[in-house]
Amino acid sequence: MKSCWNYKWVAEKEGKNESRVNNVKFKQSGEEEMLPEEIENHKNVWCGYFESLEQKMPRSASTMKPKPVKSTGHSRNPNPPSHRDNLTTYVSPRKMVAKLPEEEHPKQAFGWAARDQSGLLSPFKFSRRATAEKDVAFKVLYCGICHSDLHMAKNEWGVTQYPLVPGHEIVGIVTEVGSKVEKFKVGDKVGVGCMVGSCRSCDSCHDNLENYCPKMILTYGAKNYDGTTTYGGYSDLMVAEEQFIVRIPDNLSLDAGAPLLCAGITVYSPLRYFGLDKPGMHVGVVGLGGLGHVAVKFAKAMGVKVTVISTSPNKKQEAVENLGADSFLVSRDQDQMQSAMGTLDGIIDTVSAVHPMVPLFTLLKSHGKLVLVGAPEKPLELHAFPLIMGMCIYIYICMSVRITHLANRDKDTNCMCCLCGLITGRKMMGGSCIGGMKETQEMIDFAAKHNITADVEVIPMDYVNTAMERILKGDVRYRFVIDVAKTLNP
Ligand SMILES: NC(=O)c1ccc[n+]([C@@H]2O[C@H](COP(=O)([O-])OP(=O)(O)OC[C@H]3O[C@@H](n4cnc5c(N)ncnc54)[C@H](OP(=O)(O)O)[C@@H]3O)[C@@H](O)[C@H]2O)c1
Ligand SMILES: [Zn+2]
Ligand SMILES: [Zn+2]
Repeated sequence: MKSCWNYKWVAEKEGKNESRVNNVKFKQSGEEEMLPEEIENHKNVWCGYFESLEQKMPRSASTMKPKPVKSTGHSRNPNPPSHRDNLTTYVSPRKMVAKLPEEEHPKQAFGWAARDQSGLLSPFKFSRRATAEKDVAFKVLYCGICHSDLHMAKNEWGVTQYPLVPGHEIVGIVTEVGSKVEKFKVGDKVGVGCMVGSCRSCDSCHDNLENYCPKMILTYGAKNYDGTTTYGGYSDLMVAEEQFIVRIPDNLSLDAGAPLLCAGITVYSPLRYFGLDKPGMHVGVVGLGGLGHVAVKFAKAMGVKVTVISTSPNKKQEAVENLGADSFLVSRDQDQMQSAMGTLDGIIDTVSAVHPMVPLFTLLKSHGKLVLVGAPEKPLELHAFPLIMGMCIYIYICMSVRITHLANRDKDTNCMCCLCGLITGRKMMGGSCIGGMKETQEMIDFAAKHNITADVEVIPMDYVNTAMERILKGDVRYRFVIDVAKTLNP
């Protein structure tokens, strides 16, 4: 029997009609009852998801009691939609009949999917829904490979449901529009990024921040409101609601523009929101990969001075000469890092793996902001002192062991801790997740105006597994983009 507080959270404890399975009660909402095996199935999905998160969370967080939620009338669904005119209609789990992926919907589709934690992708037949009145259907031309695709294909975040068709940097040409579509017509160049649905009624949705909607539907590896799986852009056909479609301006190249739909908005949004977009400011970009290299381009176009902080000394020349960075620090070179301490107004950290944070805090001026957008699968180590006082904890070790050292700091300044102690604090650390649809369109238009695209290596579909291996080795300048239209053969 699987059990976790998250599932109990969604189960109603009281009610006139209720089922009891292994001591968990399920309130019935007056419709047909859920069979015990259906409850178990439903529960397994959610318990698996939350248990994987719990394993990754520190104990204190995972044992916190959740806030009870009021019944919404859909007590058996933990995440019911609050509007009904959306892309798909909510269907209770009782009414769902398991179908093969190619039989779920009327439109035949073909792509490549990961089947297990090896992350290896292979050909996969599935289906897309018929174009509904507010839907746009398009033929996929190109799809970028984001490091998130790799995290997800290998289940590194512990939430993947297989088969998984990745891809959320998708561009193509419109082939069909629903009767109520207003902004797009057949033949338009369009794109889809990381999400394809949201509730439209929460505060985030009202603020054009669908990306922070608690019911946001990811482009792949998630569930539509009808319970069917979302599949991404490593495939020949997309169908999505108009609200989640981005217009690609004519002067933006489709292959090199595709990565902007995730990498672009993920760095553009925090530059704007955290006020790191003011001419004359000095911003650090940590990790010169898919996200990092477009962060440099956007920040430069905003008039910001940019320092790249990288583990790869061999990227220095291209960072400065091709991408326009003002300076380059090798993060593993302590001398270089010390010489730049206290110089940055903000940092956009795009690193995909666990990495030391203290040296980054020490690069910030007082009141500086460090924004995490990279999503390593393991927790980052965080010392409080560099944030609150601008110094690392080790200075206190120095203070207790060699108290005179501080008084004579000028005579012995070789250790990082004492140098960072010279800097004042009140630093902030934050995070950011893609961007809302309005801002995504704004970013694409800004990119078109300033000639910003990704540096890409266009590859055939059957190269995708090799490409994933090369991404892990940092062997790509700077984004792989799959030529879906020409190379995806059923
Ligand atoms: N927040 C969001 O909304 C959002 C959206 C998209 C992606 N992401 C996440 O952002 C991260 C980056 O994605 P990406 O597509 O840009 O990945 P990427 O192209 O692989 O770039 C990541 C860069 O991080 C650096 N790096 C890798 N391993 C490192 C290590 N062990 N220590 C220090 N630096 C290391 C490398 O840069 P150097 O060689 O310069 O050191 C590498 O090029 C991923 O975790 C992805 O899932 C988040
Ligand atoms: Zn992405
Ligand atoms: Zn919402």
